[in-house]
Amino acid sequence: MSTHPVLSKLKDASLFIEKGHIDGAWVTAASGKTFDVLNPANDQRIGACPDFSVAETNRAINAAHNAFSSFRDTAPRERARLLRCWYDLVMANADDLAVVLTAEMGKPLAEARGEVVYAASFLEWFSEEAPRVYGDTVPAGNRPGASQVVTVREPIGVCALVTPWNFPAAMITRKAGAALAAGCTAIIKPAGETPFTANALVELARRAGMPRGVLNVVTASTANTPAIGAALTSSPLVHKVSFTGSTAVGKLLMQQCAGNTPGGTLKKVSLELGGNAPFIVFDDADLEAAVEGALISKFRASGQTCVCANRLYIQSGVYDKFSARLAERVRREFVLGDGSKAGTTHGPLIHSRAAAKAESHVHDAVQKGAKVLVGGSVTGATAAFVQPTVLTNITSDMRIASEETFGPVAGLFRFDTEAEALQLANSTEFGLAAYVFSRDVHRAWRVARSLDVGMVGLNTGIISDAAAPFGGVKSSGFGREGSKYGIEEYMSVKTITLGAERVQSRL
Ligand code: SIN
Repeated sequence: MSTHPVLSKLKDASLFIEKGHIDGAWVTAASGKTFDVLNPANDQRIGACPDFSVAETNRAINAAHNAFSSFRDTAPRERARLLRCWYDLVMANADDLAVVLTAEMGKPLAEARGEVVYAASFLEWFSEEAPRVYGDTVPAGNRPGASQVVTVREPIGVCALVTPWNFPAAMITRKAGAALAAGCTAIIKPAGETPFTANALVELARRAGMPRGVLNVVTASTANTPAIGAALTSSPLVHKVSFTGSTAVGKLLMQQCAGNTPGGTLKKVSLELGGNAPFIVFDDADLEAAVEGALISKFRASGQTCVCANRLYIQSGVYDKFSARLAERVRREFVLGDGSKAGTTHGPLIHSRAAAKAESHVHDAVQKGAKVLVGGSVTGATAAFVQPTVLTNITSDMRIASEETFGPVAGLFRFDTEAEALQLANSTEFGLAAYVFSRDVHRAWRVARSLDVGMVGLNTGIISDAAAPFGGVKSSGFGREGSKYGIEEYMSVKTITLGAERVQSRL
């Protein structure tokens, strides 16, 4: 019987794959180089994946390029069936996928399983979108018999999908589901911290009948990732780059996609970047609902989602009550620990550097006058565990006011007027998500319309859904994922104009 920390827990051990996927085959790096993947809950090595080079990345690009010539012409219904079959297999293997995800990313098993179901929902959604890509007929010209104009949507080509570690499954399916539905082929570059979830998903895609070369996975260590990113963005065969991650890396990739290197091409880009979400609670809010919303929106994935509430603005009339209730529930309900253990509600952060950043936000705030109601330190089996923390008396000069914490630290600001809340909420370069709690429907609507963000949760802390457009404005990026818009990111519109028949003399 296996004693391997992941294999021993899987019903189907063949889903744990220490290779990359190029041109329809599971392969190792020609150099033999690998990188270790560690479990953040105990720092134990759970396996190793190939540290691929630029040469192998180019092989994956070529494979996707060759596959595109036929995949683009598959019937939309056929692509729909492929995605639906992939969806069924992901759902059937959700328990195993959750085990792999928890081991490499750290989120508790129940939450990991929730992510797998969320990930599968994108495959289901885009299986339904694939046959529903319509064009237009355009009434053109200003005289009878003028040109006829129609538009058709065409798959853009080979796509590079660069995905993060915080949602190792859902960010892959949100991109790949849309790309494949459109008729594109892809190279997935998963985060160096979480390659095994990507491999398990792609193995299930193979079993669903994904044709050779359509879906490739290039694994690489964190250190080697910039070189792979440069290869993907400089290849003339890649037509689209979709990235989820930090604003700094997003800006770099966008520069690289602008073709400023010899022979470089201009690529279509979608960027889902950092957030710094405001969470506004007005005096007239349903306070229990607001606390519930904060628990979910702030502490999901231990505060490591791009849409996590980062700055909580609470109106003076309910500030003390809200902060006491939030702290009480965090103290009473949250159990920090190894995500694979029963009873754990919150796992470690992805690594000790992430924990150090969250801790430094707490220290900075406390030095400048903040009060710790609960939590406040790094503590646990590894240096990646940060106690779920609630801080009061937060002010705009503290780092937490302007930087994304990406950890389980809720900083509570006090405000008096609606105008003040709006001014504070919008005073950031980021614009991904925001949350508003108020029973006054006019106020809720007014504030939602005035927030400079891509998504607003009104009286809810949950905004993620395959049917809802996901994306931001300002330094949080552009492009929309999921929803009816998601597939557009992988298509281009072709306009076909049929010249008017030359009218002969009627005489
Ligand atoms: C993200 O953090 O990038 C994704 C969050 C989500 O889809 O809910």
